[in-house]
Amino acid sequence: MQVRVGIAGASGYAGMEATFLLARHPRVELAFLGSESWAGSTAGERLGLSGRASRLVYAERSAWEAGLECCDAVLLATFEDVSRPLAPVLARRGTRVIDLSSAFRVPEEDDVEAVYGLPELFRARIPGSRLIANPGCYPTAILLALVPLLRSGLLEPEGLVVNAVSGVTGAGRRAEESYAFAELDDDVRAYGIFRHRHLPELRRILSAAAGVPVDPVFTPTLLPIRRGILATIVGRLAPEASAARIREAYLAAYADEPFVELRPSPDEVSLRRVVGTNRVCIGFAVSGSHFLACAAIDNLIKGAAGQAVQNLNLLFGWDERLGLDDLRWFRP
Ligand SMILES: NC(=O)c1ccc[n+]([C@@H]2O[C@H](COP(=O)([O-])OP(=O)(O)OC[C@H]3O[C@@H](n4cnc5c(N)ncnc54)[C@H](OP(=O)(O)O)[C@@H]3O)[C@@H](O)[C@H]2O)c1
Repeated sequence: MQVRVGIAGASGYAGMEATFLLARHPRVELAFLGSESWAGSTAGERLGLSGRASRLVYAERSAWEAGLECCDAVLLATFEDVSRPLAPVLARRGTRVIDLSSAFRVPEEDDVEAVYGLPELFRARIPGSRLIANPGCYPTAILLALVPLLRSGLLEPEGLVVNAVSGVTGAGRRAEESYAFAELDDDVRAYGIFRHRHLPELRRILSAAAGVPVDPVFTPTLLPIRRGILATIVGRLAPEASAARIREAYLAAYADEPFVELRPSPDEVSLRRVVGTNRVCIGFAVSGSHFLACAAIDNLIKGAAGQAVQNLNLLFGWDERLGLDDLRWFRP
């Protein structure tokens, strides 16, 4: 039997990617697509889909709650202020909710309980949950590189520095001056320094892994490319750590992971290896007490819609790779 899945925010970059993935997923019937700006048009017209999903008509916002309630599971690919009221209502009525916004990644006192949906690190918690907080794109790459090493005490938790470059789709489909082609093209700039919205999420998960507060210096930079995140992480080895022990920790965490590719060195990690896939690629090097790792993902797949589908697969007890292996396409 097919599981009925709906997407809210289906006209955004994450929502479009989710639509492509779920339209070809063997266990899913795409049952609802919510978008105000595309209301009344079909997925065939907007995305060039074929088959059953192509006939789905995008629904305006006033119809979302009723439409999403008829689904077994929903992906909320909108913003925090939309997810915060909508997700608990749907979850209480029995719909499995995967929220792509930052609304539930760092729980507040009155929040409904949400599981942080980074399968490689928290797989066991996912299957029984009603509400999954899908991780942010930068945190996905950074946490996958750092958490196994902090958990095993191989890195000093103090003094971590993360510089990460991102393609422009990471900022969503917004029409703002600073995201216009003429502003972005031929230029590179950092943004959100010391106040990026992913910092609370990074601090929370890194601190839990290390068992002490961790507060990395995080500098995100936009590149004039469409997709992909490459994070370069610099830290200090703990006294008992070595390159061999770090390799062992990565292998212990990831040897059987279908979406983690470990490379022998950071210079073998590149966006080309991951863009269009649900994979994260990680490579590291050690010199004296210095540690450096690079981690790369496709921000819209492993950083958003692909990870949401991975979580959906776990929620319904399917093979985690369903609908996610054999991807290789390049789209904005
Ligand atoms: N882009 C990424 O790489 C990425 C990665 C990880 C997580 N995320 C998260 O995923 C979510 C979507 O991101 P995105 O990049 O896809 O953004 P986006 O391209 O700007 O799309 C946002 C979507 O939300 C809808 N929307 C806008 N205002 C709304 C409102 N007031 N009420 C309801 N719907 C509204 C828009 O469609 P209509 O106006 O047509 O309804 C659109 O479909 C965000 O929370 C983002 O933080 C994004």
